[in-house]
Amino acid sequence: MSNVSVPVSSRSVTPSFKAYDHPRLLAVANQKGGVGKTTTAINLATALSAVGKRVLIVDLDPQGNASTGLGVRRSMIRVSSYDVLFGDTSVEDAAVKTKVPRLSIVPSSVHLSGAEIELVTAHNREYRLRDALRRPLMGKDGPYDYVILDCPPSLNLLTLNALVAVDSVIVPLQCEFYALEGLSHLTKTVERVRKQFNPRLDIHGVVLTMYDQRNNLTAMVERDVRQFFGDKVYKTVIPRNVRLSEAPSYGLPAIVYDMKCAGAQAYIHLASEVIKRERQIKKALIAA
Ligand SMILES: Nc1ncnc2c1ncn2[C@@H]1O[C@H](COP(=O)(O)OP(=O)(O)OP(=O)(O)O)[C@@H](O)[C@H]1O
Ligand SMILES: [Mg+2]
Repeated sequence: MSNVSVPVSSRSVTPSFKAYDHPRLLAVANQKGGVGKTTTAINLATALSAVGKRVLIVDLDPQGNASTGLGVRRSMIRVSSYDVLFGDTSVEDAAVKTKVPRLSIVPSSVHLSGAEIELVTAHNREYRLRDALRRPLMGKDGPYDYVILDCPPSLNLLTLNALVAVDSVIVPLQCEFYALEGLSHLTKTVERVRKQFNPRLDIHGVVLTMYDQRNNLTAMVERDVRQFFGDKVYKTVIPRNVRLSEAPSYGLPAIVYDMKCAGAQAYIHLASEVIKRERQIKKALIAA
């Protein structure tokens, strides 16, 4: 990770300290581009809101795909995650409602592409997002149950800010040749961030995306990932499904665009796995 020089530990991904706070903050991250981060953020958030959870997506990618994919056009954006990051507005003021009940988004703006450079010299640069999100949203009476951060495809200061702010990371992984290498790079980064900046940070799970069961490479990568990461890999896999790629051009989550399609159904299953895992995490933390 640029600008971060900390030793790598060989410990497992289980953190030494965590507290179960409300809301739960989850980052969807993978430094590799085009692996399904935004599709996962949008559809997981929609599936969670469909079962009654109040969800906020924070679009941290200058590309703004989560914003457009949820029907927020550039021309409609007054304030963005950039303004939240630099303390020019509060997260509550930057959040806009989407067409999906109980789902809001803090949209991104093109200014975010310059944020990396601006952050380098900023005071408290690694903790800006944590301070902007956690304090105002914390508490059972707060406005959200889940806050989901859609990260850009790199391990830059924006992604570092996300990893410092959240409780857990969801890693979408496309089953391709270098997938495991990229994954081990990401897990080392998570360990470093946990050691230096955020002791609560954990990997919530790895979700296999654009899954094609007829492809031998898919089967090989899946076997290796499951062997290495065990039950950190969600049972649910997200199939390659054209409806998932069509939906954003209508400004809708696939779950709204075509709830019956295989991709939407997979994200509904993923959401129930995420909720189940959350219950286990909560139980373990309360018992600790
Ligand atoms: N399961 C899937 N089946 C078919 N197409 C998919 C699937 N998941 C994502 N896509 C499509 O693949 C492309 C990349 O997906 P997405 O934007 O979610 O990835 P990303 O990791 O967020 O990309 P980036 O790194 O650029 O932010 C998009 O066009 C998306 O619609
Ligand atoms: Mg994206």
